[in-house]
Amino acid sequence: MALLEILCYPDPRLHKIARSIEVFDDRLKELVENLSQTMYEAPGVGLAATQVDVHEQLIVIDTSDTRDELLVLINPKIIWQSEEKKSWREGCLSVPDYFDEVTRPDKIVVKAQNVQGEFFELEAEGLMSVCIQHEMDHLIGKVFVEYLSALKKARIKSKMKKRFSS
Ligand code: NI
Repeated sequence: MALLEILCYPDPRLHKIARSIEVFDDRLKELVENLSQTMYEAPGVGLAATQVDVHEQLIVIDTSDTRDELLVLINPKIIWQSEEKKSWREGCLSVPDYFDEVTRPDKIVVKAQNVQGEFFELEAEGLMSVCIQHEMDHLIGKVFVEYLSALKKARIKSKMKKRFSS
């Protein structure tokens, strides 16, 4: 197992589009292990492969208090979302120490593959729903701060640049 380096906003590599995963082999298993280990170590409740500069459609999530309910979603697609929306205060391992409100559909149904390549469907609401949507955004090159105003984005960018230039 190895810990992977997490890219920080506004790193341009966070805006790459992830390709779908076709081969479910040992390389993928190792990537899933390293990605989840990196998430647990950070610690965070979710991490997308994009955030460790691997541009493949893979996300890992664990919203449990006990940190032992790992969810691996490969090639995830939202196949249904509720009309009803909710706001949550979101954070991101790629935007350390910054939290802000984002409004998203409250409930979703997602279809994905597991590490063996088997398809499954999952209904999610609350934190799990937010997490899945947030991580899936990473796969299309979108960081949650992009939902915020231009002014807020500019402030975050300058804060992050200062933080990482020293
Ligand atoms: Ni994130």
